[in-house]
Amino acid sequence: MKFFIDTANLEDIRKAYKIGVLSGVTTNPSLVAKEGIKFEDRIAEICQVVPEVESVSAEVTPDAVTADEMIAQAEELIKINGGDEKVTIKLPMTLAGLESCRYLAKKGVKTNVTLIFTVNQALLAARAGATYVSPFLGRLDDISEDGVQLVEKISKLFRIHNFDTQIIAASVRHPDHVTRVAMAGSHIATIPYSVIEQLSKHPLTDQGIEKFTTDWEKAPKY
Ligand code: G3P
Repeated sequence: MKFFIDTANLEDIRKAYKIGVLSGVTTNPSLVAKEGIKFEDRIAEICQVVPEVESVSAEVTPDAVTADEMIAQAEELIKINGGDEKVTIKLPMTLAGLESCRYLAKKGVKTNVTLIFTVNQALLAARAGATYVSPFLGRLDDISEDGVQLVEKISKLFRIHNFDTQIIAASVRHPDHVTRVAMAGSHIATIPYSVIEQLSKHPLTDQGIEKFTTDWEKAPKY
């Protein structure tokens, strides 16, 4: 399973990219709004900060409701950073989003259909030619449903029917989500930087480093 980072914060993206485990970046209107910068400018900056990733998701804005409106925005977004092929058009899971997805897929533009909460929504998006689908685990857990089980079912469905569409497990809130979606067959998990950090940590690792340090201080130096 690959890791994408779920943020529009450049500093967090830089830190994660430096570690060398990043394959992509996802953003959404809420994440971009937090940064207080023009959306297109931030997407261009992100593309420059992560030259060697497969995808940077740029979501059409919520005021684009019809397919024509979404496609018009997408046509502008794909020009960002000189037509950077990483730019992936993130579309909401609506009928207009599906129509836009099919249109963009035919033109060879990468797409990410987001706000997926059922297997049937994922099936429709895959059939519309989506490069990625984004089921939101945490928000299902929030309403006492099992988000990981949804990923497991979509993964099974895509494999039975040989879809190329990749699953991006989104709304990932903690390390256990990461382990479970990896075991459930998700192709990608998109996670905040705080969760990347948490994944690297264990109290016994810290204790081990501390012990090696104190023991090494006592060792004879030649
Ligand atoms: O990638 C989708 C994600 O940003 C939503 O996460 O935590 O707002 O449900 P959350």
